[in-house]
Amino acid sequence: MKFTHLKGFEDWWGEDLARREQMIARLREVLDRYGFSWILTPTLERTELFQRSVGEHTDIVEKEMFTFEDRGKRSVTLRPEGTAPVVRAVIEHRLQPPLRLAYVINNFRAEKPQKGRLREFWQIGAEIIGFASPLADVELIQLGVDLLNAARIPDWHLEIHSIGTPEERRAYREVLRSYLLPRKDQLCRDCQRRLETNPLRVLDCKIDSPSLRDAPRLVEHLSPESRAFYDQVKEGLHRAGIPFQENPALVRGLDYYTHTVFEFKTPHLGAQDTLGGGGRYDRLVRHLGGGDWPALGFAFGLERLLLVSQLPPPDPRPPVWVFGVDEADLPTALQTAHKLRTTLTYPVQFYPDPRSLKARMRLANRTQAPAVVLIGTEERRAGQVRIRWMDSGEEQVLTLEAAVEALKRRLRSSREA
Ligand code: HAM
Repeated sequence: MKFTHLKGFEDWWGEDLARREQMIARLREVLDRYGFSWILTPTLERTELFQRSVGEHTDIVEKEMFTFEDRGKRSVTLRPEGTAPVVRAVIEHRLQPPLRLAYVINNFRAEKPQKGRLREFWQIGAEIIGFASPLADVELIQLGVDLLNAARIPDWHLEIHSIGTPEERRAYREVLRSYLLPRKDQLCRDCQRRLETNPLRVLDCKIDSPSLRDAPRLVEHLSPESRAFYDQVKEGLHRAGIPFQENPALVRGLDYYTHTVFEFKTPHLGAQDTLGGGGRYDRLVRHLGGGDWPALGFAFGLERLLLVSQLPPPDPRPPVWVFGVDEADLPTALQTAHKLRTTLTYPVQFYPDPRSLKARMRLANRTQAPAVVLIGTEERRAGQVRIRWMDSGEEQVLTLEAAVEALKRRLRSSREA
């Protein structure tokens, strides 16, 4: 049997992985500058956590979770998102707000894989717990913009909306349902079902329908307080110079949101055009058994950022090889490699098998080594090493200390070149 990876689950290596690590490092730096601290929660949680937070009638919970019984016959789920686990951890460990928590985590959703849509995907996310002011929304969105710039994402745009409180939404849901029911035939089959379970999701249906274009608007059914909050967020974004579009169909696919919701989108990803999204979730902490703390956050999909990022790949760092010429030279060569690693901040590779020197030099060439350190019987007896510079073919016989200095000089100047 030939083993291959599961559909929607990816292997990463080489230059792609180096780009990915570089991107994560840059994004982490931005979050550090904003004063976020880091949190890591487990991959597996009780299924109920997501049912209660993301919502029973969302696509994620209805059809996309990897859920199974553990050996104790409890229903457990590979996390489909990061917010609910973070809030669970905050409550469980009695972390005191105000909190700013960031994470880089893998998530699992059993969606149909396509470009930008995976079954295991990674998010970099940020959650702010304990602030009620609309300025927190503005600051969070500003952070999103700074992350997109650090990741060198071209042509993104921001869409925002307010979905008010659960009470306002409940009232609007009825208005929307009464409007759509007589026009049910114009909706796609999924939306005909959503009309019963989660009518708001009908609004962001990808299939254009005339009845949706003229549907009553949620904003018009918000209370004066909710509208004022939304206005303050928009005003703050204007003042911060952050361009945005209002999208009355933006409702997000998770139930925990209140008031502000937003998404950063790109024209370069085809159908999966959302790079990241989030919003306020003022009721969630309480709903999961914690205090009455307002909160907000977002997450970016790392693989989607990587698909559109214009960051140049990091400089490759080919290794310096250490070869023992004959089998008897190998133990000394191993020791030499170890000493080099303690003094050089450059990758050093040792070749432990007694293979022909010609074949090993070919390997050094293939891996673009800047230099090879050779130890033969003579060098070993004299307590020296032989360096071969691969660009010129020139050789030098030196003490190990002198060799380290020569390597440092040459590697530094070749990197500056
Ligand atoms: P979400 O919109 O479900 O929100 O996911 C956020 C981002 O994760 C998406 O915009 C997308 O870039 C990426 N993503 C989602 N599903 C996939 C997939 N199947 N394959 C690849 N990338 C994907 C949340 O998860 C919320 N927890 C965000 C949040 C944090 N809200 C408040 N705090």
